Amino acid sequence: MQSSVSVVILAAGLGTRMKSKMAKVLHRAGGMTLVEQVITSAASIAPKENMVVVTGHQSARVQELTAHTGVKYAVQTEQKGTGHALLCCRESVPKNGLLVVLYGDTPLIYASTLEELISKHAASGAAATVLTTVLENPYGYGRIIRDGDGNVAAIVEQKAATAEQAAVREINSGIYCFDSALLWKHIDEIGTNNPAGEYYLTDIVEIFRRAGYKVAPMQLASEEELLGINTRVELAQADRILRNRTVHRLMLEGVTIERPETVTIDAQVKIGRDTIVGPFTQILGSTVIGEDCRIGSYTIIESSRIEDNVEVGSYTVIGTSVVESGAVVGPFARLRLDNHVSSGAHVGNFVELKKTRMGKGAKANHLAYLGDSVIGSKVNIGAGTITCNYDGKKKHQTQIGDGAFIGSNSTLVAPIQIGAGSYIGAASVITKPVPEGALAIGRAHQVVKEGWVKAKEAKG
Ligand code: UD1
Ligand code: MG
Repeated sequence: MQSSVSVVILAAGLGTRMKSKMAKVLHRAGGMTLVEQVITSAASIAPKENMVVVTGHQSARVQELTAHTGVKYAVQTEQKGTGHALLCCRESVPKNGLLVVLYGDTPLIYASTLEELISKHAASGAAATVLTTVLENPYGYGRIIRDGDGNVAAIVEQKAATAEQAAVREINSGIYCFDSALLWKHIDEIGTNNPAGEYYLTDIVEIFRRAGYKVAPMQLASEEELLGINTRVELAQADRILRNRTVHRLMLEGVTIERPETVTIDAQVKIGRDTIVGPFTQILGSTVIGEDCRIGSYTIIESSRIEDNVEVGSYTVIGTSVVESGAVVGPFARLRLDNHVSSGAHVGNFVELKKTRMGKGAKANHLAYLGDSVIGSKVNIGAGTITCNYDGKKKHQTQIGDGAFIGSNSTLVAPIQIGAGSYIGAASVITKPVPEGALAIGRAHQVVKEGWVKAKEAKG
């Protein structure tokens, strides 16, 4: 990364073909908005304070959702073309050094390609370097017209192209590296003399040429990185490519991913070595998973921390929770929100946890709801246990001391404290605190009437 490089990301357009209420660059692919993907790639070539996103449509929302990245903004209130969009950044970027222009709707560009663009530009001595590629069907794109030396003589937009120019299959990606001083010196010469009446940034090529400067091409062999998103079909295509890249990277880092084409893993997720991820699993948001874990198939984990050696069974859903090392969760468990499962604890099938802390080695192996609870170490929660944490107005806490044994089908009416080492008889409704070491039974006595059936039959 060079402090003399700045980046402008053009993202003012609405994206009509998305048919969406939301600005195009805010749609998500690979676990991030399109514009965040571009910012992430650009982070390898320029510091955040040298990055400017040009916003227009839903400017406030775009700024809100990207504020965490630390970039700056320039607002283009009326979309008068790519040249005008860049002009809006004049006061926001350094006057010297290099300036790289990117599009907010072209999220597949590799950081390494941008690094290469900068080094090629520096080596060529050109005033600008244009990233290009050759397309089977170049319709709609600006065409690259080369001079006898192989440099770029002009970029001609589709609407203005002659038949001969339209037959050229090398296209302008819209990504450029400029000498900043020359760009700002000449940018005002861009006019609106074209069929669309817009300020075309592409006109800068001929302006530079007239002033005696060279414009160099950098041709990419593959078009994949330059895929621009215009429709939801292209959005899904970009999502697939970005997710393939993420699983590919993780596999090379030592994670086993079974049937990698079926899993959905967001770009920011971290997974340790020798962890095995089953098919059709989704690992989302800021999730961090340690080493030697087994994540079962069809499991969804969002913004959670899973330590080493954890087993998460299939069909488990975990949201914003921590699972410590050696714990076993699922299959079919739900850790809904802000839970903490301590080391060696077990949370089994059809157990739901919400804002609950399970102590070390505590077990709730089947069919339970534990909400707003602090559960000590080595506690055993029997099948069918329910914490009644809600009285219709407020949520209340349940506290269970270390080593307590909660019999099956117990109903714990919160707020309630169950002392360490105590026993709760099966099927009890517990409404009063249970002291340490006590047995509490809260259910009707069993009544046995011997010979009752025969007596009834005799009565007729
Ligand atoms: C542009 C290029 C074309 C290139 C193509 C690659 C020009 C004149 N043409 O055409 O040579 O082949 O990209 O995709 O530059 N934007 C703004 N403000 C504006 C206009 C556009 O922020 O006033 C943003 C858009 O949101 C978009 C990007 O700039 O992200 C490109 O604009 P678009 O209108 O799609 O340009 P193209 O016609 O595709
Ligand atoms: Mg376009």
